[in-house]
Amino acid sequence: MINEKLEKEFNIQINKELYSEYLYLAMKTYFMEQNLMGFVNWFDVQVQEEHAHAIGMFNYLNERGGKIELLPIDKPEFSGKTPLEIFEEVLKHEQYVTSRINAVYDVAEEVRDRAAMKFLDWYIDEQVEEEASVDGVLSTLRLIGDDKNALLLLDKDLATRVFTAPVIG
Ligand code: FEO
Repeated sequence: MINEKLEKEFNIQINKELYSEYLYLAMKTYFMEQNLMGFVNWFDVQVQEEHAHAIGMFNYLNERGGKIELLPIDKPEFSGKTPLEIFEEVLKHEQYVTSRINAVYDVAEEVRDRAAMKFLDWYIDEQVEEEASVDGVLSTLRLIGDDKNALLLLDKDLATRVFTAPVIG
């Protein structure tokens, strides 16, 4: 049986992952409007990843005998008006998610739940990859500046991103 305080943290994190899925779906619409279909693909993959992150926690909480509580998902908000500004927001969001995963880990540590800490290691590693992947696109966007041809080349590159269902835990 999982500790109640940790159960609550897992339920909050499931919600944060589902919010991430929702946020990236919202951001995808900007790129659909711009007809940047490689970026659209990048966000499609991101949406699937966030869904997998949420379900990974959902399944784990169930496996540990915890009570799953699906919390309301906030309306996704972003204010970026260019690919660069949007990716700056993506990076900020991923940094926030990293801090959230660390908070869940802290509670697992506090209640001495070693199994949960081991499970959360996967998410800690995943956040390093997530931040690095976003930072990579962001650096390229900074180099591109106002060069439309270079933006189209990046778009072509992002079209090659493929979703691979993660094995979590
Ligand atoms: Fe599930 Fe992008 O963090």
